Amino acid sequence: MPNPSLLILPGDGIGPEVMAEVRKIIDWFGANRGLKFDVSEDLVGGAAYDVHGVPLADETMAKAQEVDAVLLGAVGGPKYDDLDFSLKPERGLLRLRKEMDLFSNLRPAQCFDALADFSSLKKDVVAGLDIMIVRELTSGVYFGEPRGIFEEGNERVGINTQRYTESEIERAARSAFELAMRRNKKLCSMEKANVMESGVLWREVVTRVGKDYPEVELSHMYADNGAMQLVRAPKQFDVIVTDNLFGDILSDCAAMLTGSLGMLPSASLGAPMANGRPKALYEPVHGSAPDIAGQGKANPIACILSFAMALRYSFDQGAEADRLEAAVEKVLADGVRTADLLGEEGVTPVSTTQMGDAVVAALDASL
Ligand code: NAD
Ligand code: IPM
Ligand code: MN
Repeated sequence: MPNPSLLILPGDGIGPEVMAEVRKIIDWFGANRGLKFDVSEDLVGGAAYDVHGVPLADETMAKAQEVDAVLLGAVGGPKYDDLDFSLKPERGLLRLRKEMDLFSNLRPAQCFDALADFSSLKKDVVAGLDIMIVRELTSGVYFGEPRGIFEEGNERVGINTQRYTESEIERAARSAFELAMRRNKKLCSMEKANVMESGVLWREVVTRVGKDYPEVELSHMYADNGAMQLVRAPKQFDVIVTDNLFGDILSDCAAMLTGSLGMLPSASLGAPMANGRPKALYEPVHGSAPDIAGQGKANPIACILSFAMALRYSFDQGAEADRLEAAVEKVLADGVRTADLLGEEGVTPVSTTQMGDAVVAALDASL
């Protein structure tokens, strides 16, 4: 059997910095757990634009379609702000999601005990929190037509279109119900059926799919109320399913429940490949963080935990994923903190590299 293949796309800003720490973790599993990967690396985002003049080269896209899993750092940065829309770094990531048909984006938000004091919310609101947001990722207003900036009379009009087919809603909903079945069997669907027809259809289809999962307690919420409830009493949720744009916003919101955006991993999953595993891309929820890029300050945990999700969802290595997550938890319990997690008096932050080394040391201690 050949080793499973991993395509690493570090991207821009802090992307390469956090990915360097993930490389240490991958090497650790190869050396200590017999888990060897065929790793290749390529360019995405601004880094690809600088070399190829496009944010994702066709050859890179083809490679992404062939590998067992893609691991991505982050894309974007002020240097590319004035580029034509079609050439922006973010388009590289959106092309990967669309062409790999990664319709189900899993964004867990878990509050580690050691970080319960770091959330901007009160400790008892977030302590023990463990929720999963399932964000539809290949449709909705991100991709709907018509779109663009058009002349209309003597002014311009900017247009994006929220569009969902029943089958798009159904497959996202089904993946959320499946997850809920493996968790606490509670699913809350969020849309704005009060003002959007796509929301009416969303609610109807989710309800219909729910008939196949009678054990799952299904509820519906308008997404604006959902945002408020996430901050008011986040532990009322188990799994949340929502569309592409609401999911983007609600998951950043959920990030602050865990203490920092630098903590949140994600898995973007598609249909099963010939080997039975889903097409998959793993990436932190955060972006390229231009404000701290190049300073060794970035928290690599979101990217490290994204690799843990790859172990679990792409490589059937649930026990090793648990091991890696426990190592992260131990490091945090030991008081190791990157600058984004500071709050306690007298604690000196560690660098990105030191955080990666601390996780490796905790993995060593787990043997
Ligand atoms: P961002 O997530 O890059 O940063 C938001 C804030 O969180 C910043 O203050 C940043 O310093 C902090 N932060 C983020 N990740 C961190 C980490 N790992 N450790 C410590 N602090 C961290 O969002 P933004 O500033 O709105 O966007 C910057 C660029 O990133 C834009 O070009 C945007 O399009 C892009 N972006 C890319 C992705 C992605 O690649 N998946 C996601 C979001 C934003
Ligand atoms: C995310 C990001 C992306 C999105 C951008 C960079 C395309 O914000 O992954 O959350 O909006 O989906
Ligand atoms: Mn986002």
